Amino acid sequence: MRMYDEAREFIAKCYHELGKSAEDAQDRLTAIQESLMRRATYELTYEELEHGARMAWRNSNRCIGRLFWKSLNVFDERSLSTPEKVVNALYRHIEFATNEGKIRPTITVLNPKVRILNHQLLRYAGYETERGVIGDPHSIAITRLCEELGWRGKRTPFDVLPLVVQIEGEQPVWFSIPDDLVLEVDIHHPDYPQFEGLGLKWYTVPMISDMALEIGGLRFAAAPFNGWYMETEIGARNFADLNRYNMLPKVASLLGLDIKSDASLWKDRALIELNIAVLQSFKERGVTIVDHHTAAKQFERFEQIEMDEGRELTGDWTWLIPPVSPATTHIFHRYYDDTVVKPNYFRQENLY
Ligand code: ARG
Repeated sequence: MRMYDEAREFIAKCYHELGKSAEDAQDRLTAIQESLMRRATYELTYEELEHGARMAWRNSNRCIGRLFWKSLNVFDERSLSTPEKVVNALYRHIEFATNEGKIRPTITVLNPKVRILNHQLLRYAGYETERGVIGDPHSIAITRLCEELGWRGKRTPFDVLPLVVQIEGEQPVWFSIPDDLVLEVDIHHPDYPQFEGLGLKWYTVPMISDMALEIGGLRFAAAPFNGWYMETEIGARNFADLNRYNMLPKVASLLGLDIKSDASLWKDRALIELNIAVLQSFKERGVTIVDHHTAAKQFERFEQIEMDEGRELTGDWTWLIPPVSPATTHIFHRYYDDTVVKPNYFRQENLY
């Protein structure tokens, strides 16, 4: 679609939702058309950016947390053009979103010429060694890049990676994240003190930084955003996947389960206890987290509201179902239309 058509579609929807008049929308479109003719682009007002980013969350088919789309805090940092200024905006994002554990859904929209090479603002490094991977195998490529750029990790399983910022046409630059900005939770289990021996911890805020935000035909390649965690993301995937921290055998052994036979369902039991440990540890530390049953109920309310508002609900069933006990949630038992509606967040190709 031409940029003008994208803009028209967005402005119509956005202004309608914000309760603005048709005349306002028409005037705005005239101004956009003029800007497109003069400079082949246009700029969103703060109000458009704010609502557009929220619509993009509402349209995120894979996200079970969309009930809260209206509460997204939007920082407009489109004017920043040096890596130093950008990284300061990222530090501010981390601090504001973390909020000492009372997580605030937040997005920082940066200049279209900026790219963040990290997958998330906070992520643990992964190192390939002769004796296997240390840390998060998902981070091997970015970790290698950071070390090529001159960063050197301590080689613990939980080294927080530096932020890597690239301005279009320039070399990427790395910045370490001050310790006092990084809130982490040590994982323990209320009934099994042995859990602590695993030495597990996780950072508190999942801030996706490698997806592009698209609004009204404009693309923001760097627009890190966050909600709060659902416990399965950490307990059933980050800690459990074979190609991540792969902790199920260790957890099962510590629970005294028979890991010789798949049919003993040791993986399933280990998963549940790991998820309980994650939930409890976050809760005790006063950090926002949601369990998958509560999240599914919240999503059901979102479905109802979207219907009441006369909007088509879209969703990706394969992502919406939780990885633990999926059939205990209503999501498992219905169909979702996976059509991609804009504004939205998009995956983009990796730069390294
Ligand atoms: N699943 C990803 C992780 O474990 C985070 C994705 C976004 N999650 C969220 N709750 N907003 O780090």
